[in-house]
Amino acid sequence: MHNKLLEKLNNLTVEEKIGQLVQLTGDFFEGDLDTVVTGPLKKLGLHPNYNVYNTGSILNVTDADKIIRLQTDYLEKSNHKIPLLFMADIIYGFRTIFPIPLAQTCSWNFEAIEQAASISARECYDEGIHVTFSPMVDVVRDPRWGRVMESPGEDTLLAKKYAESMVYGIQGQEAESIPTDKIAACVKHFAAYGAPIAGREYNAVDMSEHMLREYYLPGYQAAIDAGAKLVMTAFNTLNGIPATGNEWLNRDLLREEMKFDGVLISDYAAVEELIMHGYAENATEAAKLGLAAGIDIDMKTAVYANQLKNVISGNEHLEQLLNDAVYRVLKLKSDLGLFEDPFRGLKTRQEQATRILSDAHKKAAQSLAEESIVLLKNEKNLLPLSKQTKIALIGPYSEENSTLGMWAIKGDEADTVNLKTGLLKHMGAEQLSVCRGSYLIPDHAREALGKYVDKLPVETGSEEALLQEAIQNAKEADVVILALGESIYQSGEGGSRTNPTLPEPQLKLLRELKQLGKQLVVIVYSGRPLILTEVTEQSDALIQAWYPGTMGGDALANILYGVVNPSGKLAMTFPRSVGQIPVYYNELSTGRPDLPENGSYRFATRYIDEVNKPLYPFGYGKSYSTFDCSLVSVSREEMGTEESVDIEVSVSNTGKFDGKETIQLYMRDRFASVTRPVKMLTDFRQIFLQSGETGTVQFSIREEMLRFVGSHMKYQSEPGDFDVYIGTSSQDTPLTFSFSFHREEQL
Ligand code: BGC
Repeated sequence: MHNKLLEKLNNLTVEEKIGQLVQLTGDFFEGDLDTVVTGPLKKLGLHPNYNVYNTGSILNVTDADKIIRLQTDYLEKSNHKIPLLFMADIIYGFRTIFPIPLAQTCSWNFEAIEQAASISARECYDEGIHVTFSPMVDVVRDPRWGRVMESPGEDTLLAKKYAESMVYGIQGQEAESIPTDKIAACVKHFAAYGAPIAGREYNAVDMSEHMLREYYLPGYQAAIDAGAKLVMTAFNTLNGIPATGNEWLNRDLLREEMKFDGVLISDYAAVEELIMHGYAENATEAAKLGLAAGIDIDMKTAVYANQLKNVISGNEHLEQLLNDAVYRVLKLKSDLGLFEDPFRGLKTRQEQATRILSDAHKKAAQSLAEESIVLLKNEKNLLPLSKQTKIALIGPYSEENSTLGMWAIKGDEADTVNLKTGLLKHMGAEQLSVCRGSYLIPDHAREALGKYVDKLPVETGSEEALLQEAIQNAKEADVVILALGESIYQSGEGGSRTNPTLPEPQLKLLRELKQLGKQLVVIVYSGRPLILTEVTEQSDALIQAWYPGTMGGDALANILYGVVNPSGKLAMTFPRSVGQIPVYYNELSTGRPDLPENGSYRFATRYIDEVNKPLYPFGYGKSYSTFDCSLVSVSREEMGTEESVDIEVSVSNTGKFDGKETIQLYMRDRFASVTRPVKMLTDFRQIFLQSGETGTVQFSIREEMLRFVGSHMKYQSEPGDFDVYIGTSSQDTPLTFSFSFHREEQL
């Protein structure tokens, strides 16, 4: 412990200590005392005597002038002049908006993801924000859950890589103090928030400890190992106990085992929600459970502020827990350099005007968007388009600027390069007709979006008139580009869907246009893998655009015209039908697998009305080029603990376009003390090859890559035989071989 911080801590009264653990929004500091007491304080249920100038941190104030004003006012009026921390949800970009996280992971380019995070951090730094509530590394296998858009997808290795690159990008790699241009990262939501039952938001999570440790925890661990200064708890119960009040989870696992020593913050109002969960009987109990579970900061409720004093009174153990929590908050402030300069240079800095949304930042956003977009289908090489082609651009996303996604709180739609604008950079206006074609979503779906209804575009004209215009435009064109998608408010927090397909009016438009016999390029904007089975059948080319961020239109147009060869690979399986959900590539083998040689044998792990295979598997994504892989060498068939199996793969670009391919290495542990997945992504390499060029990629399998959580919850490797599969998606792995692993002492 640092003596200076201890001194600060010891100077605080109990009320002042508790204040450090309270997080409020900016409105608590606006106006005079009277208005605060009758306004926000009352609304939140804070005790009228609560001194807002004891508060430790502020949520989602994201404007430099306001931050300066609030901090100045606070420092003037607070007793000990311990600077406020400003925390905000800058999830995938401050003003320069990058593709949504699920899209970013489809780039499999973690250097680019780190760079994107460092740009977001720089823009936050320039605006005076100290902490971002990012990265979210909740692994998700169920696309019904709306927050899948914020996640790295279904795979644990990708989640780990995402976690690490995000933390490095946001915080830098320095051990303790956070340097200039960087801010603190908060990994969330601990734990397993991405697995709510039936994909329904905030629903219970019930999973075995084995599943938790093997697939869900490693992402959080990677962020902690990379130095994440904060962790946020999850809203859900985990095996019956709310994560936010779960002592085993937050103390035994997070702090003791996973070695997290930073600040643990509750999710929004989650301490108070312990009551609704039926876990705490009242607010006093909620405060006690929260503190006991190790929650340092109570986000946006009055529970800690009103209750903690009574809760700890006369209880030395709880007093100690309070001191520990406050110490951690002070330490974070110190790591950010706030005691030296509460503004982190904000007052004297000039450059923000030039750095925020700078050309360099936009260029990085465009390039990551280009790498995140996934080409799902390209019949008869319809794409890329030639410049001479006459295009009808049709659909609600043709000129849509909301494609920043729902968590871009500082993103400005006015900055968005939409698809039409992007296309016009490649073709003359006379070659392009543009129309909306259909409503974005049906009226009944609008109502379900609650407060976001007002943000949806107002539909003008009847659906029939929109359709007729679209048919007319399509008839006059050589190729139709259909820009379709779910509304950004249909995904994100509170955006669970039971039937995640394209909205009905858009499907109708697609069907009608298909009948014209024109070539159809469908572009899908969405925050999740939608069920695209019908869309695939009806389209000649299909592009998954996700929500591609500020520069999305330029990125898509570059892909459509072949300036950029698509290289994105799905970080999440696309189901064929809702009933298959959850469907993911690394499933366990059952005792009765559905083997092709058994045909439609009934008593196998299968459906009688649907195939097991998804529509598009994890790791899948097409290129304009074709790549051939062959195994050049495998260094050994038997591997000891200190040895490695070194593999060389030759990759040839056999197509007409230069491009990048992602060579994926999967493994299967044939027999182990727990059943292992039929395939597990173990490593991958990306290689850029010019048309006709051949190159090689190397892999090296070492003992630590064979480890898994065994039957006694220990992370270990076990001797035995391993199958290796190498290819360009989880289902296309033509290169296979096996090796056996032994421990030296066995010989
Ligand atoms: C979300 C968090 C977010 C927090 C603060 C909550 O509703 O679950 O991810 O960081 O709000 O805005």
